[in-house]
Amino acid sequence: MIYVWDSCRSSQTPNFQKPSMNDEQQFSMVRTHICGLRVADLVSKYGTPLYVYDEATILEQIEALRSFDWIRYAQKACSNLAVLDRIRRRGVLVDAVSAGEIRRALEVGYVPEGDPPPIVYTADLFDQEALDLVVERNIHVNCGSPEMIDQLGSRVQGREITLRINPGFGHGHSQKTNTGGPQSKHGIWHEDLADCLERSRSHGLKISGLHMHIGSGTDLGHLSQVVGAMESMAREVGPQITSLSAGGGLSIPYQEGESRVDISGYFELWDGLRRSLAKEWGHPIRLEIEPGRYLLAESGFLIAEIRAVKRMGENTFYLLDAGFNNLARPILYGAYHPMSVVPASGEDTARPLRDVVVGGPLCESGDIFTQEEGGFVRTRSLPDARVGEHVVIECAGAYGFVMGSNYNSKPMAAEVLIVGGTPHLVRSRQTFEDLIRGESILDID
Ligand code: LLP
Repeated sequence: MIYVWDSCRSSQTPNFQKPSMNDEQQFSMVRTHICGLRVADLVSKYGTPLYVYDEATILEQIEALRSFDWIRYAQKACSNLAVLDRIRRRGVLVDAVSAGEIRRALEVGYVPEGDPPPIVYTADLFDQEALDLVVERNIHVNCGSPEMIDQLGSRVQGREITLRINPGFGHGHSQKTNTGGPQSKHGIWHEDLADCLERSRSHGLKISGLHMHIGSGTDLGHLSQVVGAMESMAREVGPQITSLSAGGGLSIPYQEGESRVDISGYFELWDGLRRSLAKEWGHPIRLEIEPGRYLLAESGFLIAEIRAVKRMGENTFYLLDAGFNNLARPILYGAYHPMSVVPASGEDTARPLRDVVVGGPLCESGDIFTQEEGGFVRTRSLPDARVGEHVVIECAGAYGFVMGSNYNSKPMAAEVLIVGGTPHLVRSRQTFEDLIRGESILDID
């Protein structure tokens, strides 16, 4: 049995049939529509490879986190201006890790100053451009190294800053997304807090809050430990603290057997800490959460065309016109993304399953979407498909397009945002001229 499934939250399509998250067949499917729109129509209008995002899914994920005082979107997950703007309109604040991300936030109408600060620069260092920008535009800084305190303090006095603390432990879906503990470069080491308090004082900077982000794709067990670590750090700083940030890290179910995060249980833990400190110190404490993946992952689809169906010994390969230049998560982390096949004729959905390897066009053996961490190629049970048909790589909205590259001189894909059932092109496909802009041939022998 193969499901014909349109997973979009907004979907009211005739073929809408959403199995429960535990249904073991959920992740093996034929798909004809995305959010009520025929994939074939999207492809003929915009071409492939194509990223498609569903606004309704993003908004639903935002609503699920409203118990926190403030949601601050980690735009590194997907920083397309149109996406950022839709999120801003829902009263969600934004995080930035570079001058470019600060500029994106300003571009869509986030104002630099406010309480809480609409834009926060969280990083482990300043490059010259970022330092100049946070100084000139009065952007709030969440310092991830003692040097950031010194470098900011030598330019401005009297500002509030927050500190990103590495509590000495971390966890992620991959070791590469673990941002805590001694192997991580991120944050101020917890034992250096006293030194950083002193540095800040000497520069006339006031530490008004603490932040911890121990990794991405983290489980609730590890995330919950952060609350205890935050408590002892907050007590060390004392009542000058008016805000706490739980960071991001919330996962989403990418495959069968993975469950949804219990947001209310997680919130209770943080709220408990916040309440007890607020009571003790006699002033309110703002509680922020900083998700990237949780808001975007499930909203995004990467559509690609099958250009070859190749047999190599016992393996059959579906080779797509999208590769790790479009979606790097499988080659980087062995990340699993659900996939579905789009039949050339919308009605032709009765396809047998076959075990296939799915790869891309790049001249590199690792350009495989069905691999495990370490580069081990795996097969995936997918509906039988032919050249010219399409594959939709699902749950690709977070860390998808943004981690793309021009490797092999491939242009960056186009991006479409569906709002209220209507598709809008929000980034056109790069052209060859875009690709070579800024390069020059030397006029010398
Ligand atoms: N806050 C800070 C300071 C971060 O460094 C990150 C992610 C987030 C929030 C958001 O984390 P999230 O809620 O998305 O887990 N490329 C990897 C993920 C890298 C995450 C980097 N920092 C992936 O594709 O899994």
